[in-house]
Amino acid sequence: MNVYGKHYRTIWVKEDDPQVVQIIEQRLLPHKFVIEDLTTVDDVARAIKEMHVRGAGLIGATAGYGMYIAALHAPRDSAAAFMAALVAAGEKLKATRPTAVNLEWAVERQLEAVKAAGDDLEEKIETAFKTAQTIADEDAEFCRRIGEHGQAIIQEISQRKQGDTVNILTHCNAGWLAFVDYGTATAPIYAAFNEGIKVHVWVDETRPQNQGARLTAWELNQHGVPHTVIADNVGGHLMQHGLVDMVITGTDRTLYTGDVANKIGTYMVAVLAHRHNIPFYVAAPLSTVDLNCPTGDDIPIEERGREEVTHVKGQQLAPEGVGITNYGFDVTPNELVTAIITEKGGARAPYVYSLKAQFDQ
Ligand code: MRU
Repeated sequence: MNVYGKHYRTIWVKEDDPQVVQIIEQRLLPHKFVIEDLTTVDDVARAIKEMHVRGAGLIGATAGYGMYIAALHAPRDSAAAFMAALVAAGEKLKATRPTAVNLEWAVERQLEAVKAAGDDLEEKIETAFKTAQTIADEDAEFCRRIGEHGQAIIQEISQRKQGDTVNILTHCNAGWLAFVDYGTATAPIYAAFNEGIKVHVWVDETRPQNQGARLTAWELNQHGVPHTVIADNVGGHLMQHGLVDMVITGTDRTLYTGDVANKIGTYMVAVLAHRHNIPFYVAAPLSTVDLNCPTGDDIPIEERGREEVTHVKGQQLAPEGVGITNYGFDVTPNELVTAIITEKGGARAPYVYSLKAQFDQ
């Protein structure tokens, strides 16, 4: 995606030093565009935990590169010691954020690939590098395809409205900043916009971290897509007045049943959309599907620090010592989801069959 007219991904290996992984430090956006170097597993774990990088796909890609960095620094005395260091690094990375399944998925994919690479340690390091690059490349390519599939849905609404603007509401940031490129919820929007379809995006600010106001608004602006930031409690009013044609969000963990865990507040949006007969789409690569998690209640929901709620920009709003809960995610049950748009197309209910069919394709 373009930043001030130059193409960037959200993570890459430094051109003149392949032992350094570079990221966009997202906590500083939209006011400062800063590139950060990651050179140790601790750097990578901190970047994920403290949300220098965030979003399901990017968390996975960062974990993939984290395992490559672990391989670069692992002991070389034996293959067993080398693998033990990688397993320990994987555990450290997996402990950073619990909800996005891509994290665990990328670590396990790396461990499997490196284990299978034979006993030559240079070959194992090369494999870790190639696997990290493949995870990142696939993420970008799958998001691009999600854009193509999702664009058809926007086009259909546009035709129904005889070319009038399609108003799309999104929550949090499931844009290119949450992936390696393109994004998921935003990919169909960018694709439609590029085709000349008139779109306008309602961007939920997404308290308490404000990923919508800070990140989604910034990246839509970089691409020139018309948008308006709204407080999180405005969507219902807009829907009541016919100002929302569709909702698209991302997901951090998709169950084979079609239940989806996404940023806290997504469930409220889905209930409102259902109440007003507005289609609620979820866009995600199949890498977010967790085949081992049986029900929404089994999804680990991240709980974050109290200061995110008590304070805004360092300024305390709530009274000293007040009780706080700060859940990072909620689960939207499948009956509220119109379709899940993946790199293989749109899966519709019953998801146990349609998502499974996509895996088998
Ligand atoms: O806490 P974050 O910023 O990592 O949460 C991001 C979201 O909830 C996104 O909507 C989600 O990751 C799905 S799309 C990547």
